Amino acid sequence: MIDEMTTVLEPRPLPDFVETKSVKDITNRALFYIKAGLPVHFRGPSGTGKTTLAMHVASKIGRPVVMIHGDEEFTTSDLVGGEYGYRFKKIVDRFVSRVLKVEEDMVKRWVDNRLTVACKYGFTLIYDEFTRSRPEANNILLSILSEKMMDLPVGRGEEPYLKVDPDFTAIFTSNPEEYAGVHRSQDALRDRMITMDLDHFDYETEVAITQRKSKLFKKDSEKIVNIVRGLRESGKCEFAPTVRGCIMIAKTLKVQNITPAKSNGAFMQICQDILASETSRVGSKTNQARVKEIVEKLVGKYS
Ligand SMILES: Nc1ncnc2c1ncn2[C@@H]1O[C@H](COP(=O)(O)OP(=O)(O)O)[C@@H](O)[C@H]1O
Ligand SMILES: [Mg+2]
Repeated sequence: MIDEMTTVLEPRPLPDFVETKSVKDITNRALFYIKAGLPVHFRGPSGTGKTTLAMHVASKIGRPVVMIHGDEEFTTSDLVGGEYGYRFKKIVDRFVSRVLKVEEDMVKRWVDNRLTVACKYGFTLIYDEFTRSRPEANNILLSILSEKMMDLPVGRGEEPYLKVDPDFTAIFTSNPEEYAGVHRSQDALRDRMITMDLDHFDYETEVAITQRKSKLFKKDSEKIVNIVRGLRESGKCEFAPTVRGCIMIAKTLKVQNITPAKSNGAFMQICQDILASETSRVGSKTNQARVKEIVEKLVGKYS
């Protein structure tokens, strides 16, 4: 039985998903390797569509999906499962109203976590930002990916290992290693997956995503995308602006009913605020001022 602690997602097409030629290409390549039994890994900077693509590929596979987000605090038992099941009884003390007595009932019970559930039932696992977890926590994946066997800690009460269901598929995503909070992924683990590097979207895809997500006109979406790409290509930002910046600007314009024209001060302000904020994650006034200056020129040029 699958415990209620594990959320299993139905494989559904994503709403507002844009499928341009480049998106189709990468999806098909990923599915090709998956059909050959190889796990895939989408690697790329923030905002290059890794998580969305992983979910899209998973929906094409058609099996139920479990998703894990990499986390520094993770231990193997967060992935595999462990002995949980303390029952808490809350007792409110009527006389001292602030006191909440908690009675513990120590019935230990093994609870399978997401990875175990996915292996056992042959679901698709999306392990998003897996390099944020410490390598030791991820070691369990080595035998799953190569020997199709999962070692189980004692306590689970069955066999010491679990045979991975043949339908099990793993899709990984990660940011390149220079990002803060990211561990170098172990070479042994990376050797067992097909890594596909993603970059920022091509022009056509970026416009289509901006338009689809905001419901703005195409020509207005193009103006925004030109400004954001101009800033990205300037190479003057601490962090390159992403399609998220395009979407945020476009949605704000739509909701506020603002036209993207250089004569419109509100448009300039929105572009400067959103793009300065997106591209300088370390608070620095000089960075922000420099970005705002570049944005001002780009707004003049493209709108
Ligand atoms: N093919 C696509 N169709 C529609 N929207 C997309 C597509 N790819 C990415 N997006 C949107 O772009 C933004 C960034 O994508 P995301 O998958 O979160 O990137 P990453 O995981 O690389 O940081 C999100 O708002 C996402 O909804
Ligand atoms: Mg992501």
